[in-house]
Amino acid sequence: MHPSLNIAIRAARSAGKIILRFSDRVDQLKVETKSRNDFVSDVDRAAEAAIVQELRGRFPSHAILAEESGEQAGKSDFQWIIDPLDGTTNYLHGFPQFAVSIALLHKGQLECGVVYDPLREELFTAARGQGAQLNDRKIRVANRQSLDGALIGTGFPFRDQRHIDAYLGMFKAMTLATAGLRRPGSASLDLAYVAAGRTDGFWELGLSPWDCAAGALLIKEAGGTVTDLAGGERFLDTGNLVAGNLRVHRAMLDLIQPCLNDQLKA
Ligand code: IPD
Ligand code: CA
Ligand code: CA
Repeated sequence: MHPSLNIAIRAARSAGKIILRFSDRVDQLKVETKSRNDFVSDVDRAAEAAIVQELRGRFPSHAILAEESGEQAGKSDFQWIIDPLDGTTNYLHGFPQFAVSIALLHKGQLECGVVYDPLREELFTAARGQGAQLNDRKIRVANRQSLDGALIGTGFPFRDQRHIDAYLGMFKAMTLATAGLRRPGSASLDLAYVAAGRTDGFWELGLSPWDCAAGALLIKEAGGTVTDLAGGERFLDTGNLVAGNLRVHRAMLDLIQPCLNDQLKA
């Protein structure tokens, strides 16, 4: 196995233990509001510290971009992108859908990714060129030929509402064209579910790199397509992402693009 992936898995499992330890007493956690509808608890911080300690111990020269502690420069071209608890709002409500997400980026290319759901003990992993797995099983994106009958994941714009009208246009078009939409509330897991063929596609606006880096590699390694709204590669920079198998992805882009405002087209 890819040595970095091995360490990332260890780091994700350590974070998962911390997350589970407090999951039945979330009402006792100290919670701060970072910005509107953006919360952080001691669990997010402790889980992140455990991940960073594990990665730094093994790869001291690598840079780090972590949601709660920000950017730490490194002396190499490798950068770890970390979301210690993706789905904090769910977690704080006792809604059982959240994950740890860790990815390694090298000169703009995703090298490995881990999305770990500690509640279900589901470990999604991928290394560039080596496929994607759920626990010990290889996973593939679904084989659906069109949006007809498709189950599509999404994320509602609940913080930044600048693009709510554009989003609602997409929502309407997608609702009319598919078998249904799901908004589980943890983008990294949503992407992992596309990789595993549990949903046929996913789109969301305004993601951060730590929400989607690992999940994007999972989908690519599972034979899927992940792009920004223009069909290009810049989803980590723009935070706007569309994913699915080749046909579903194309069909989704065809519905999404007519809804874009000038800012989203840029
Ligand atoms: C959030 C979740 C959510 C998505 C948001 C993310 P957080 O991450 O992934 O599904 O809609 O855009 O910020 O804040 O719980 O780590
Ligand atoms: Ca997140
Ligand atoms: Ca988070």
